Amino acid sequence: MMMRRAIHGLLVVGMLALLPPPRLAAQVVDTTLKRTAPDSALLTPAMIEAGRKIFHGQGNCYACHGDRLQGGPIAPALTGKSWRHISGTFDAIVDRIDNGLAGTLMVPHPGGISESQVFLVATYVYTVSHGTIKP
Ligand code: HEC
Repeated sequence: MMMRRAIHGLLVVGMLALLPPPRLAAQVVDTTLKRTAPDSALLTPAMIEAGRKIFHGQGNCYACHGDRLQGGPIAPALTGKSWRHISGTFDAIVDRIDNGLAGTLMVPHPGGISESQVFLVATYVYTVSHGTIKP
């Protein structure tokens, strides 16, 4: 499993290395831009990998959504084939993690993650659900 993750990581780095624009790099580092729906080329491998760690770690997302984002008895899949209550845009993903959905187990900031961790984990969910990377 670890090995597989490591290989995925390398593939991601390899794939994203092909995506050009360094001119936009300064912009993405500023996590206060979370409301801006990014071109997925703006999401750096480092951000996505940081998001992956949060998903499978502090955020506890995997416990409800599955460690391959496949969903389960508690929570829906986040693989992008269909969404339960959101549109699936980057904005909508950030918003759901930021605010949760009242009356469900989806609480705001699961695992007590910070605002910037919300943004990072959203980059991971977004890129997986848009087929850019493997979970
Ligand atoms: C305790 C279980 C639990 C945890 C932990 C959890 N979620 Fe959820 N999540 C849910 C449930 C349940 C829903 C469905 C709410 C609804 O009915 O729309 C949901 C919905 C979502 C949605 C919207 C899905 C859709 O199709 O409408 C996103 C995105 C999401 N969660 C991301 C995350 C992320 C990222 C984390 C970790 C930071 C996380 N969740 C942690 C239970 C959880």
